[in-house]
Amino acid sequence: MARLNEGDVAALRFLPEVLRRAGYVDTFAVHGALHVRFDRVEQHLGAVPEPLRTLVRLFMLGAPVAAAAARTALPTELCAALLRLGVLVEADGQLSTAGLSLVPLLGQLAFVPRQTGTTLLEEEFVLAARVTPPPGARCLSLCAAHGLAALRCATLASRVVAVEINPILVGCIELTFALNSLEDRAQVREGDLYAALAADERFDYAVAETPVMPFPPALVSPAAAADDDGAAVFRRVLGELPRVLAPDGWAQILASSVGDETGPHLAAELARRAGELGLRIVTTVPARIPLDPRSELFELLASGSAAAYNLDEGDVRERLRTNFATRNVKYLYSMVLTLHPASDRHAPRSTRMAHFVPSGGFWFR
Ligand SMILES: C[S@@+](CC[C@H](N)C(=O)[O-])C[C@H]1O[C@@H](n2cnc3c(N)ncnc32)[C@H](O)[C@@H]1O
Repeated sequence: MARLNEGDVAALRFLPEVLRRAGYVDTFAVHGALHVRFDRVEQHLGAVPEPLRTLVRLFMLGAPVAAAAARTALPTELCAALLRLGVLVEADGQLSTAGLSLVPLLGQLAFVPRQTGTTLLEEEFVLAARVTPPPGARCLSLCAAHGLAALRCATLASRVVAVEINPILVGCIELTFALNSLEDRAQVREGDLYAALAADERFDYAVAETPVMPFPPALVSPAAAADDDGAAVFRRVLGELPRVLAPDGWAQILASSVGDETGPHLAAELARRAGELGLRIVTTVPARIPLDPRSELFELLASGSAAAYNLDEGDVRERLRTNFATRNVKYLYSMVLTLHPASDRHAPRSTRMAHFVPSGGFWFR
């Protein structure tokens, strides 16, 4: 991505207006406000008139379109600025977004790597919908991923620091902040969790979307730590939270946990950590999905991990089966945690609300 220059950024900010007035957000929202189904948008593209169809193909689906059609759909100056910024690239008479999608989120637009079919963005939308910082709050977004929670923080509160370890996502977040004119109050830092913060930085509100692997990553990756059961990042986020929260500060964490019939395995640990860290923790468990060796998710994990690390699928399946049997893993639970420092009036405590029903979705019922 080219460096952002002032003139081009001014042109970039005109893009959401052009798209909104063309009906871009409606084309998306007709399929649901927070359930992102790009495959459905694609299936229904025939019902969308030109030049909106070109704009949706180009920006929402990240597909190449004929350069002439794109130049008809976009103002000349905007198209030139997007090409200079590297948001659009031209090859063989076609324009494309070089691997980006522009997704609507509650009235705003965010740049994310191109999405296909049903996407993992769903969990990020789920967190973004819950982001409720107090007015004027200094916010922290850890494991910022595509920056959707950070975008909501920057919009609703006074400022946000987003921390993400993946440089490609950091680039997307930077672009999204610029697109929404938020760069004077929103900052993205490429780094490892709290190491990206200054020693004295404190926050009134923090959000995190922690990656929790349902199995020890060392089962498939020789580079992974041998003692990581899959929840190492989650534990690091939780462990240092009290240090960076202001006295009245609070936090929301989106996570998942393997578990059995009685609930998520992490629940017992949370109860213990609440006391040790001086936190009040309220855990909402929206749903659970089966993770036994006959389940669809088990198959996905086994085949996906084997492909990602070029391993024998049968071996991976056997290692997962043994590990799950040893740990009594039957389900994957979704979890939303609300945390704040305990006070004189409110002792540390961990409580849990379970809303799961057998046929529910993972994040939505
Ligand atoms: C649960 S994942 C986000 C999943 C997302 N919905 C997706 O589609 O990829 C959490 C994010 O945390 C980031 N992350 C993992 N470890 C991190 C660390 N130590 N410091 C900062 N970010 C980290 C990952 O790069 C990822 O973007």
